[in-house]
Amino acid sequence: MTATIVVGMQWGDEGKGKVTDYYAERADIVVRFQGGNNAGHTVIVGDQEYKLHILPCGILRPGKKAVIGNGVVMDPWVLLNEIETLKGMGLDTTDLVISDRANVIMPYHRFLDGMKEAQLGDKKIGTTGRGIGPTYRDKVARSGVRVIDLLDRKRLGPKLEENLQTVRTTATAHGLEFTSDPDLLEELLGIGKVIAPYVQNTTYLLNEALDSGMSILFEGAQGTFLDIDHGTYPFVTSSNTVAGGACSGAGVGPTRIDEVVGILKAYTTRVGEGPFPTELEDRYGEHLRDVGREFGVTTGRPRRCGWLDLVMARYSAKLNGVTSLGITKLDVLNGLDEIKVCTSYIIDGVETDRFPASNDLVESIEPVYTALTGWGSCETFDLSGGLDALPKEMQDYIELITSSLGVPAKLLSIGPERHMTIEVS
Ligand code: GDP
Ligand code: IMO
Ligand code: MG
Repeated sequence: MTATIVVGMQWGDEGKGKVTDYYAERADIVVRFQGGNNAGHTVIVGDQEYKLHILPCGILRPGKKAVIGNGVVMDPWVLLNEIETLKGMGLDTTDLVISDRANVIMPYHRFLDGMKEAQLGDKKIGTTGRGIGPTYRDKVARSGVRVIDLLDRKRLGPKLEENLQTVRTTATAHGLEFTSDPDLLEELLGIGKVIAPYVQNTTYLLNEALDSGMSILFEGAQGTFLDIDHGTYPFVTSSNTVAGGACSGAGVGPTRIDEVVGILKAYTTRVGEGPFPTELEDRYGEHLRDVGREFGVTTGRPRRCGWLDLVMARYSAKLNGVTSLGITKLDVLNGLDEIKVCTSYIIDGVETDRFPASNDLVESIEPVYTALTGWGSCETFDLSGGLDALPKEMQDYIELITSSLGVPAKLLSIGPERHMTIEVS
């Protein structure tokens, strides 16, 4: 394992945190390359449950570097909070590195996020409210505040004032008033001093690490169908969540990437609004939500649940150049008499295996399902026996997925803990 991207193949919450943490044992560096604290990655280590929003999972593995790459949008208050929480849990956070080029989420970005959602009313995206969209908008508009600016009063002062003025004008135009904390500049400069030892050009760091033979794991956040270009736009997040985003978001060229591990949950979930062809509102959906504990890590919202969608998964495998699959939460299907998998769509009376661009078409999809027999209630699995020791019906389920995608499954996850993992050679 030298340079490996871990990417979500659905709408997020596929178990990227668990798998990244698992693979992190053999990596030297774990880097986040996009998104911000809209992410919620749960990792269980022994009796301890960690919920990481902005820190890469490598922070949980002593001696590994955890890097926040340039493509991330970083809320510095959330960062400091998360560092303090982990320190309180006895972890050493000194191996953190933050890109000097990452854009900073400001309180006014959260305000704008909320304002836009309120304005959209019943057409809202259902964002996490963390200011992600407005921060990326400022970045693309070339007016964002970057981490490096927090270290320089002369640069930060005027930039902040300019941005605050724009926000006030926008708020007034919407009949709202925006008042900023008068101490914001001093607070940000104070934070700049605290994080300064962590800040550097992470492109040099990562490329030199690869040159010297170190291994890097790129920890994706969100999922392929939340990608700003490829997802169910506008019901998406504001970054490139696909594997390609790892190169621009971490400053590493595509020729340096060795593996792309696509994380595929054994069923589908989605948080927030937007189309969802295989969504279930029956007892099967309830089973998935209850047994899978499908409640958002970031906002606590119940996740919408549905059957596995192989049209989406095949599209995702192509888009990301997935070289192997990590299939997660297989255990959540325990106890189901029947398991369905969507293999194609009917759109306007025509069968297709292509994922449409128009949300109106996605909304109109009639999924074509293949029904499989479940494997009953299996309280424990023989983990030492590998794939062959799993229930026959589960093996069939995995075979259906891998043959449909043409990609091998190298990791199977059948529980949230580190040891509840099977590697397939
Ligand atoms: P991420 O955002 O992709 O990292 O995923 P989340 O952490 O938001 O959601 C995945 C949830 O499922 C977390 O609570 C994990 O602890 C849990 N989890 C991960 N893998 C498995 C698994 O194989 N089985 C079960 N039952 N839970 C899992
Ligand atoms: P992880 O990394 C699931 C969803 C939100 C909303 C849309 C836009 O834990 O898989 P945003 O706040 O990003 O502007 O919201 O994206 N969303 C996620 N859904 N998992 C995530 O992250 C998500 N991050 C954002 O619910 O629908
Ligand atoms: Mg999550």
